[in-house]
Order: sequence, then C-alpha cells, then structure tokens
Amino acid sequence: MEKDTVTIKVNSTGKQADFPLLKGTHGNPAVEISSLNKELGIFTYDPGFMATASCKSSITYIDGENGILLYRGYPIDQLAKNSSFLEVAYLLMNGDLPSRQELGAFVNEINQHAMLHEALRGFFDGFHYDAHPMAMMVGVVGSLSAFYHSELDMNDPEHRRISAMRMLAKIPTIAAASYRHSVGWPYVYPRQDLEYCENFLNMMFSLPSQKYIDEAHYIDPAAVKALNLLFILHADHEQNASTSTVRLASSTGANPYACIAAGISALWGPAHGGANEAVLSMLDEIGSADNIPKFIAKAKDKNDPFRLMGFGHRVYKNFDPRATIIRETCHEILEKFSSDDEPLFELALALEEYALKDEYFIEKKLYPNVDFYSGIIYKALKIPVDMFTVMFVIARTAGWVSHWLEMMAEPTHRIGRPRQIYTGLSARDYVEIAERK
Ligand code: CMC
Repeated sequence: MEKDTVTIKVNSTGKQADFPLLKGTHGNPAVEISSLNKELGIFTYDPGFMATASCKSSITYIDGENGILLYRGYPIDQLAKNSSFLEVAYLLMNGDLPSRQELGAFVNEINQHAMLHEALRGFFDGFHYDAHPMAMMVGVVGSLSAFYHSELDMNDPEHRRISAMRMLAKIPTIAAASYRHSVGWPYVYPRQDLEYCENFLNMMFSLPSQKYIDEAHYIDPAAVKALNLLFILHADHEQNASTSTVRLASSTGANPYACIAAGISALWGPAHGGANEAVLSMLDEIGSADNIPKFIAKAKDKNDPFRLMGFGHRVYKNFDPRATIIRETCHEILEKFSSDDEPLFELALALEEYALKDEYFIEKKLYPNVDFYSGIIYKALKIPVDMFTVMFVIARTAGWVSHWLEMMAEPTHRIGRPRQIYTGLSARDYVEIAERK
C-alpha cells in the first residue's frame, strides 16, 4: 500500500513539499514535519500543543470523543473493577499484566525500596511547619539524586529500572512525611506486611501514642479500596502537561529524580493536578445551592478569571470515563465514611446538574472531569485538602516513570527544543547608560 503524505505549499513563494503521514494503531494520523524547516524554511505554530503529537508511545490511549481510556490496551473500567494500583503500575511500566509470581516479585521490590535514607528526614525539618506539602514533594523528590548517584547511568537499563522502582516505592513515604511534618507528628516507617495503600494510610495516620487503637481504625478495607481505585484512575493519561514536562526534562539527559520533580511542579497548577484541591475551595466558596447561578455566571463571564474547577478537559469532549467511574463510588464512600461530607457532595451534584443544562457548557462541551469528584472522596477519607494534589502525585508517578522508561529506551530520542515566532525588536546598538533617556 502506498504511504500517505501531506503536501504543504507556501503560497507566497510557490514552494511545496510532501511530508509522510504517520499512523498509529488508533487515533488520528500525524504529519511528520521534522524536515519542514529544511524543505520550506518555515516552522509550525501550535501553542498549547492543540494538534501536535510530541512522541510515539505505546502506553496509554485516549479517545476523547468517545470517552475511551486504555492502559496498554486494557479499558480503564476493567482495571478499576478488577485490579490493584501496583498491578496497574506493573502493567504501565512493563507492557503486560504480571503473572502471580511477577507481581509478587514486583511488590517485594517496592517494599524493599520504600524506606527513606535517614538523612532525608533532616530535609523536612528545613521546611516551615505551614509549607505546602507539594512544595516539600518537589524539594525532597528532587534531592533523591543526591542519595543514589552511583546508579544514575542512564544508558544502563538496570540503573533505569532501579531508579523507576525507587521512585514508585519512596514517593508515598515522602508524601506521608510531608503531611506529618505539617502537623508536627513523628514520621512513620513503611511496613512490608501492609499492601501499598494500607501502608500509605498507616504512614499518614498511625500515632505512637495510640498503639491501643486497632489498626483497622485507619486502615479500613473500604478506604484501601477507594485509594486503589483513585490511584488506578490517576495512574496515567498519555502526554498530559506533567508527563510532557517529565519527557522534556529527560530529553536533556537530566537524572530521573530531577525529571520527576519537574513533573510534580507541573502537576501542581490548578489547570492540572491542583484542580482537586481547587474544586473543594470552590465548593466552599459557593457554600449553598442558592449561590450556584451566581458562580455559573462568573464562570461564563470573559472578564472574570473564575472558571468552574473540575470542569472541562483538553481531550475529553463528551465525558471523562474516569469521572463516570468515580461518581458511582462517591455515594458509597460517603455513606461509609462521612455523612458530614454528604451536603458537599449534594452541592457538587447540584452544580453539575445546573452546568450540564447550561448552553455555555453544552456548546463548549465542558463536562465534569475526574477531579470534580476525587477531592470529595479524599475529604471523606480524612485526607487534608492540601494533600489532594500529593495524592495525585503518588498515582501519576506510575505513569511518569513508565513514560520515562519508554523514552530512555528509545535509541533515537533527541533533546526537546521547540522553536518560536520572534516578536521582539530588530538588532540595535548598545547605548551607554549616561546617554539613555
Ligand atoms: N469553566 C468555564 N469555562 C471554561 C472552563 C471551565 N472550567 N474550561 C474551559 N472553559 C472555556 C474557556 O474559557 C474557553 O472559552 P472560549 O472558547 O470562549 O475562549 C473554552 O471553554 C475552551 O477552553 P480552553 O481553556 O481553551 O481549553 P483547554 O483545553 O486549553 O483547557 C482545561 C482545558 C482542563 C485546562 C480547562 O477546561 C480548565 O481550566 N478546567 C478547570 C480546571 C480543571 O478542572 N482541570 C483538571 C483537568 S482533569 C485532571 C488532569 O488531567 O489534570
């Protein structure tokens, strides 16, 4: 079969050239324009990457029109129903679901790497008690390279694998320590007898002074199930802003800890992972269902920066399949854990109902995304609001390290270096300070 091409013609010069059209297994084909500048002396301009594929990847597929999300080919609803977060992490990193033996070895290795170097505790002490946990995450994760520099030969696949495993294993420990620093509680060591999410809950909430309290108090199976579900839903989302940041930083050959710290920084923003925290602040601000019309009007006002947090998505234009799954679970979790948060959920549902009937939201195809609901569940599980984005970090680490491993294993990867349209002044002569007006 003849390969498809796209012809680009510059009307002013009449020059034209053909460019190959690349096809993946699913999704839109993409025109390969890396020789565009050489052939025609022009660049492409696509701020926000609205129509630009930045890489080839076989990890995650999203069909935004039809609300489809596949991890390594498996539909998200099947993984959400049947799998655990570490099994999904294995799948993302290695390409296939593990055998029982492979999963056992993977979990075992994660357990081995979950401790932090004792010197890292001192890093937390350097932060003020009211530091945002995301600020601590960026700093402490970035500093990991100072502890593991003997295994940072990025041309060695085993070094890359161990770095990825360390990241996945240590991030929950760092996350829990960030919280405990903020409340002044002693740090809790990871425990190998607990499952990944159980261990996280234990590191968050157990207290040395309350040994008599049954562990089941803070490691409730329903909470563990909810965490596993949320972590699976957030584990990967192809070339989102933070994953693209990890890839761009990695393209320079920077060490993986620095690259993941860059990803954490990108996730922090309210347009991305910070949305779950922003949704809760917004619901607090709205206060009651009577105020919904006022806030919807603000969201629609072009002169008002207010946006409905937890609504809209760059890729999903009909529904976010993760939101559909989590919405169903929300009621169940609130019933079990916190009837106090039920009014908040009712307010969220009222807001959702109002927005979905509004012409503006219908026309712009703005639907609730996963983070419209995730914060409500985290709140019911007694996770503090400023830890919500940190929870997203724990989950998305599985995706970040998988993309990093994929990219680093590609022999032809090059430094990411976009071009620009220069809009500044033309060359001009330096003026001595005394002569400047
Ligand atoms: N409230 C009100 N108007 C909105 C919203 C919103 N939440 N989202 C988009 N719009 C409008 C926007 O003003 C624009 O209008 P116009 O065409 O008149 O200029 C139009 O819809 C298209 O929006 P956009 O900003 O060009 O779309 P985008 O693809 O660049 O941004 C988004 C996607 C998710 C950043 C944006 O919808 C948003 O800011 N949502 C709120 C924050 C949020 O919930 N983020 C979490 C995303 S899901 C978790 C994750 O993957 O990180």
